[in-house]
This record gives sequence, structure tokens and C-alpha cells, in this order.
Amino acid sequence: MTASAPELIAPTRFNVRPLTPSIGSQIHGIDLTGELDGETQAQLRAALAAYGVLVLRDQHILPADYLRFARIFGEPDRHNIYLPTLPDQPLIEVLESNHAEGKDARADAWHTDVTWRSDAPAITLLHGRTIPQSGGDTLWASTAAAYERLSPALRDFLGGLDAIHSFEVSGIREALLGRREGGYGSTGNAEKLANARIKFAPVVHPVVKTHPVTGRKVLYVNPGFTSHIRDIPKEQSNALLNLIYDLFKTPELQLRLRWEQGTIAIWDNRQTVHYGTKDYGEQPRKLHRITLQHDGVF
Ligand code: SIN
Repeated sequence: MTASAPELIAPTRFNVRPLTPSIGSQIHGIDLTGELDGETQAQLRAALAAYGVLVLRDQHILPADYLRFARIFGEPDRHNIYLPTLPDQPLIEVLESNHAEGKDARADAWHTDVTWRSDAPAITLLHGRTIPQSGGDTLWASTAAAYERLSPALRDFLGGLDAIHSFEVSGIREALLGRREGGYGSTGNAEKLANARIKFAPVVHPVVKTHPVTGRKVLYVNPGFTSHIRDIPKEQSNALLNLIYDLFKTPELQLRLRWEQGTIAIWDNRQTVHYGTKDYGEQPRKLHRITLQHDGVF
């Protein structure tokens, strides 16, 4: 057990209810419509590090309250290069599927946010605004618990490897070209892709990293944005990546969140991967997303 295992976190300013033994907890008893005091903020940051994902229900709050809450965990930044934002809150991105309006935001591949940048966001928040009657759940898996399932020999081996990450292995490439269906990036063209290639060249991340707060080792590759493991043949890279991705699919390492209007989820990208299920047909779904800057140490 590590120093930051959830069992050792005992907040006094709110209640936490672990949602699974490996990942996620629900927070009760805080009011986000006003400023939270320093001790409450510190306990929330500790809980996020311990559990990887925090869930708050029934937060029918204004975008300004949401932004103030997000700032407890870091500085908001716009990391994505094609998502629309709220007109009066450019730091809040809108992920929307609305068949009637031709919008189809989707994140139905396991990924860690924006690992195609060297300064990938440490933490992300989503706020449920329009939720399908059924479907549209988000799943997270603990990349620390996944690492801990590996045999010691595999841990050592993977610990010596680096992987290449690029937006070009994801749907962002098509969006930049204007070829992605669903409204996102419909104004794209070859010049936009060329500019993004200059600005966001592929980046290298170690396959195994150490979480700066918990000290736990984590697997830092994901099917959404990892192109390949460096310096080994492609087939062997694929085999190793698939071995890791199969671990992420292990139910015991996962949290599955059923959204409700007003639900907020906050997650630590440095110890999780996530997946937005795309099973709600033509029902509308809208989430407001805030991503928080890289912490400079991970
Ligand atoms: C995301 O990947 O940020 C969105 C996940 C979702 O749509 O459930």
C-alpha cells in the first residue's frame, strides 16, 4: 500500500464515499456557489490525488462557479485546438452531441487528455448539462492500479521504454482537415493540419512515469494518442501497447459514471485513462469541460 492509498485519506471538511476499491470517490457536503476555505481546498486536492476521480452530484451552478471550483486544482487552459467554447467563458469547452444540429462530440476511445502535447493537462473537469435518458456514461481506469498488476519483470522492462504521442493518430487530424462529421472542425482544411503539425510535432513520453503527489508508478500510454513505442519494431510495439490497453479494460480497475444533470467529475490525467461511451443514439448530450495546466513536474 502506498502513502496516498485512499484508506489513509480522512477529510474533515466533507464526506467521501469511495465508488470502487481502485478508483473514484463521491464527495458530499460542499457548496460550490461560494468560495471554499483553504483547508477544504487542500483536502479536495488530497482526495483527488488519492482517488484519481472525484464525483459531485447536483451541482446546478453557474459557469463562473464552475470555473472558480476548477481553479482549486490548477490554472484553466485551452488545450484542445478545435472544440467550441462558451461565448462568455472561453476557458469552458462545450462537448455536445445534438443530432438535430448536426453536432457529434465523441471521445469513444480510451485516452488520457492531450498527451500529444508535452505539457498535457494534469487535471480535467466535466459538468453534466444535458444528459441522455440512458447511455453516455464515462469510464475511467486507474493507470497506477494497471501498473501494479504487471509482473516485476514487465514493470522493469516497460520502465526503460519511451512512446511517441501525436494528435494525428486521433480524430483531431480529420477535424483539422474538415473531414470529421458532426460539426466539429467542419471549417478545417489542409492548411490547418499543416499549421498544427508545425505547432504540435509528435512528443515523447516515458511509458512508465511517477505520479508527483502519490509517488505511485503509472502507465502513460493510451490508444487515443499513442502512436508507437520508440526504437522497437512496430509489431512488437503494438503487442506491448495492447497488453497495457487490455489492463485498462479490466473491470476491477475501472469506475463507470452514470451522468445526471449537475454532476461534476474531476479527474487526474496523470493516473487515469477514460472513455466516453457513444451508445445514446440521437439523444442530445452536453458536457462542459475545463482542462487545467500541466503541473510542470510530471
Ligand atoms: C472527454 O474525453 O473529455 C469526454 C468524455 C465523455 O464524453 O464522456
